[in-house]
Amino acid sequence: MNINFTGRIALVTGAGKGIGRCIAIKLSELGAKVFAVSRTEADLDSLKEEDSAIETRCLDIGNWKNTRKVIEDVGRVDLLVNNAGIVRHKSVLEASEEFTDEHFDVNFKAALNISQIVAKGIISRKGSGAIVNISSISGILTAPGFPMYCSTKAAIDMLTKSMALECVPFKNKKKLPIQLHSCSVTMHQ
Ligand SMILES: NC(=O)c1ccc[n+]([C@@H]2O[C@H](COP(=O)([O-])OP(=O)(O)OC[C@H]3O[C@@H](n4cnc5c(N)ncnc54)[C@H](OP(=O)(O)O)[C@@H]3O)[C@@H](O)[C@H]2O)c1
Repeated sequence: MNINFTGRIALVTGAGKGIGRCIAIKLSELGAKVFAVSRTEADLDSLKEEDSAIETRCLDIGNWKNTRKVIEDVGRVDLLVNNAGIVRHKSVLEASEEFTDEHFDVNFKAALNISQIVAKGIISRKGSGAIVNISSISGILTAPGFPMYCSTKAAIDMLTKSMALECVPFKNKKKLPIQLHSCSVTMHQ
C-alpha cells in the first residue's frame, strides 16, 4: 500500500516515548509535517535529534486552558493522534478524587479538548482529516487494580463514537470530512 501524507499536518500527543514517538516518526517519514507534543523536554530534544523535521511542543495536556492556547497556536492540523495516556495502580475502593482526576484529565479530557480545536478547524476550513484516539482492550475488559485506566479507555471509545456521529452533518460532497477512529493497541514483550 502506498501511503503518502505529503502536504498534511499531523499532531501527536505523548510523542516523547513509546507508541506516540513511533507514530510521530512514521508520520514524518510518510511526508506529514508533524507536531510532537509531550511533557518531558529531554524526550522531545532527543526526538528532534532523531528527526529534525519534527516540531515539538512541551506541554502538560492535563492543563485544559494552557493546552487550548498551545494547540490553537499550532494552527492547522489535519491528522490528530490522541495517544498520551497514564496508567496507575489503585483499587476502586482506594481511588481518591485526585487519582481519578489525574486519569480523566490526561486520558479523556485532554483528548476531548484537543479534538474540539482540531475538528472545529477542519470544519471551518471545509477541509478533511482524521482523529485517532489510542484506546485499549482495557476499555472493554477490566483488570483488577486499574479501575480508572479502564474507565477512561471505555470513555474514550464512546467519545470517538459520539464525535463520529456528530460530524456526520458536516458531510462534504460524498466524503465525511473528519474520520474518527478508536484504536486498541496490544503490546507483546
Ligand atoms: N503500551 C501498551 O502496552 C499499551 C496497551 C494498550 C494501550 N496503550 C495506550 O497507548 C498509549 C501510549 O502508551 P505507551 O505505552 O506508549 O505510553 P508511555 O511509553 O508511557 O508514553 C506515554 C507518553 O505520553 C506522555 N504523557 C503522559 N501524560 C502526559 C501529559 N499530561 N501531557 C503530555 N504528555 C503526556 C508521556 O510523557 P512523560 O513520560 O514525560 O510523562 C510519554 O511521552 C496510551 O494511551 C496507552 O493507554 C498502551
